[in-house]
Amino acid sequence: MDPSTSALKQRLAEAGQSHLLRFWDELSPEERATLKLDLQGMDFQELNSFFKKAMELSCSCKDEKMDSRMEPVPQEVLGSVTRDRENVNCWEQTGLECISQGKVAVLLLAGGQGTRLGVSYPKGMYDVGLPSHKTLFQIQAERLLKLQHLAEEKLGKKCSIPWYIMTSGRTMESTQDFFSRHKYFGLDKNNVVFFQQGMLPAMDYHGKIILESKCKLSMAPDGNGGLYRALGKHAILEDMQRRGIDFIHVYCVDNILVKVADPAFVGFCVQKNADCGAKVVEKSNPTEAVGVVCRVDGHYQVVEYSEITLTTAQKRSADGRLMFNAGNVANHFFSFSFLKDVVETYEPKLQHHVAQKKIPYVDSKGEIITPDKPNGIKMEKFVFDIFHFAKTFVVYEVLREDEFSPLKNADRQDGKDTPTTARHALMSLHHRWVLNAGGHFIDENGTRIPAIPSLKDGTDLPIKCEISPLVSYGGEGIEALVKDREFHPTLIIDESGVHQLVKNGL
Ligand code: UTP
Repeated sequence: MDPSTSALKQRLAEAGQSHLLRFWDELSPEERATLKLDLQGMDFQELNSFFKKAMELSCSCKDEKMDSRMEPVPQEVLGSVTRDRENVNCWEQTGLECISQGKVAVLLLAGGQGTRLGVSYPKGMYDVGLPSHKTLFQIQAERLLKLQHLAEEKLGKKCSIPWYIMTSGRTMESTQDFFSRHKYFGLDKNNVVFFQQGMLPAMDYHGKIILESKCKLSMAPDGNGGLYRALGKHAILEDMQRRGIDFIHVYCVDNILVKVADPAFVGFCVQKNADCGAKVVEKSNPTEAVGVVCRVDGHYQVVEYSEITLTTAQKRSADGRLMFNAGNVANHFFSFSFLKDVVETYEPKLQHHVAQKKIPYVDSKGEIITPDKPNGIKMEKFVFDIFHFAKTFVVYEVLREDEFSPLKNADRQDGKDTPTTARHALMSLHHRWVLNAGGHFIDENGTRIPAIPSLKDGTDLPIKCEISPLVSYGGEGIEALVKDREFHPTLIIDESGVHQLVKNGL
């Protein structure tokens, strides 16, 4: 055995991970080289300590419910698009000013594996079946383009919003290739920055790294909270600093309704002098399995549904709303200085969470086994793990039907968070934009369809209506196109004009 392999063997033995070379004698020279390369880049002692701490955290969470330590978000840090309607324009103006001064960047979390959706390519490349067949990436890119134009129009200054896109080892190449093939959807290539999050090996319940084949470890991205380590590793903060970025909007790739760099949210956070902000939607019912933003021992945090008792989940405030109702939608604001502190100081203090998974593995005979129940863990950090380091934390409540419809699962009858629900959510929002701007819909007999946005068109489908983000970012600017006009669904409004498609055809 050559000296470097012996050294590796020694390191593995010290860390209790010698089984990773179990099939060494059977491997071809190429397979040995690949495995060796993977293993040499790993710090096994660090991995073992991640495992130990993650398991301890997981056990302590199981034992202890949070209830007695929790307080709801206090009114003074809360902004709401509905209850503070009179302030929204002012927040938006502030946000647009920051954008026009080139101080705002967006950071997209797109390193997930999309296991539940079950496609082999990155989720951002998914087409949910809109009339335009735009992918999630295209919709988000076009919202950015439109917002840049709106800021320019309003403040008379050319500006750009840099877009930082976090991918993982599994999604980097295809994501970059997709953007390049689509000419960055009209954005300036220099303002789209890709970087890669870290990966961690899956482990069994005893802390042994799992081999997915004789020469390959089972690896997975280290959670969307892997963001902070990746920002440091790839010098992204330096890039932000060079560009003069002061404020960052972070969001997830899978929300079809996301208001990328939402100027009202940014403006609200800036006016409140916040270093960290969370956008939330009202939790729909006590048992909805969503994390809630609240204070625990005086610090802000997201508490998962499983961490509280039903009695606490059911508690109501005097106004009748759920007391812990601030549903987290992984949509955040950070000041640059806070993000810098997180990356440079707090990140190493974050602990991994444990996700039990069914992890395919190679057994001692060399056969690949796909387990039918969880057999190990993946370790993940979450993007919101850093909330409790914030000195000024604010919460911004928006309407779910306007801003949140995530794509998580593949289509199935009555499924939740599927391509169908995402498509319907977007079309229903655009239907409402048309109604609000004074437009009307008519059925095939020319009869007006009542202006109730939730109303289906008789075929159990929502009114088919899609407005290009290049035409409208948030419902603005369409009055001249739709006011006092009647439309047959499908209605498409894009840069080339207003189009009505007859049923079953374009
Ligand atoms: P989810 O937790 O829903 O995971 O991610 P997912 O990968 O999209 O889907 P499943 O669980 O495998 O089915 C929420 C957001 O966080 C990002 C995802 O890309 C998505 O935008 N994410 C998740 C990362 O960027 N990195 C990760 O390691 C995990």
